[in-house]
Amino acid sequence: MDALRDKDVLITGAAGGIGRALAEVALDAGAKVTLTDLDLAPLERYAGSARARTALLNVADEAEWKALLVPAEGWDFVALNAGVMSAPPEASPEESDILALPADRYRRIVDVNVDGVAFGMRSALPVLNAGGALVATASAAGLVGYGLDPAYSMTKHAVVGLVRAIAAQLEMKKSSQRVCAICPGGVQTDIVPTYARAIPMMEPRIIAEEIADLWTAGKNGEIRARVQAEIPAQRIDEPTLEGWGAA
Ligand SMILES: NC(=O)c1ccc[n+]([C@@H]2O[C@H](COP(=O)([O-])OP(=O)(O)OC[C@H]3O[C@@H](n4cnc5c(N)ncnc54)[C@H](O)[C@@H]3O)[C@@H](O)[C@H]2O)c1
Repeated sequence: MDALRDKDVLITGAAGGIGRALAEVALDAGAKVTLTDLDLAPLERYAGSARARTALLNVADEAEWKALLVPAEGWDFVALNAGVMSAPPEASPEESDILALPADRYRRIVDVNVDGVAFGMRSALPVLNAGGALVATASAAGLVGYGLDPAYSMTKHAVVGLVRAIAAQLEMKKSSQRVCAICPGGVQTDIVPTYARAIPMMEPRIIAEEIADLWTAGKNGEIRARVQAEIPAQRIDEPTLEGWGAA
């Protein structure tokens, strides 16, 4: 993928399954990557790399976004990928019931999955180069109701909504910047609850390659679902509402 060569790329949640796979895809393609997460230990292998930089970044803290070092030429491609589920992986399904969710867990998932993406947009869009793209990792649970974790489903619907609204705004401004969302189905990573780990899921690289493709070839506002390795990606268009938007 030559379109990534020497480009400045930012990835959040880069220590996790999809983020790390995306870091590999970007580095293999010759990009200069800034890899951010809450815990940099899994990213130590990049310490000596001339094209990789690591930085601590809690996406839910806007002050940390303001302190993040931006390359002099701005970002070419950004992946707002960090995310959490309502309960830790070892929790029982009942602990993700929104009626039972303790206030601190509710606050955390909204802070990370919604504020984290909104703050990322507010930080990165003003320094995103012309023709550049920002891809947010939503979820299939951001397109359909996901009864096993309603709060997660709510936050991922918010990500899709924010991407669509910002895409519309960029269009109004005739900007060449693009924003897209990827909506994966099950991917084998640490976020997956332990009770669900026996279910066959996609390799993280499949989603990483979809994100890289959206960076370079995605249409502004494109919402792309990839739910199984065997089923090609699907573009999820906005519904058409009779009577809405006619000026
Ligand atoms: N794995 C799946 O089945 C699946 C499906 C759909 C969507 N997703 C989404 O994909 C994204 C990546 O998740 P993953 O599957 O690689 O899981 P993961 O748990 O392996 O990775 C998530 C990463 O985000 C980081 N993170 C969490 N809170 C953070 C914060 N406040 N600031 C910065 N980093 C933070 C974690 O430290 C971790 O490294 C998430 O947004 C997740 O919701 C995953």
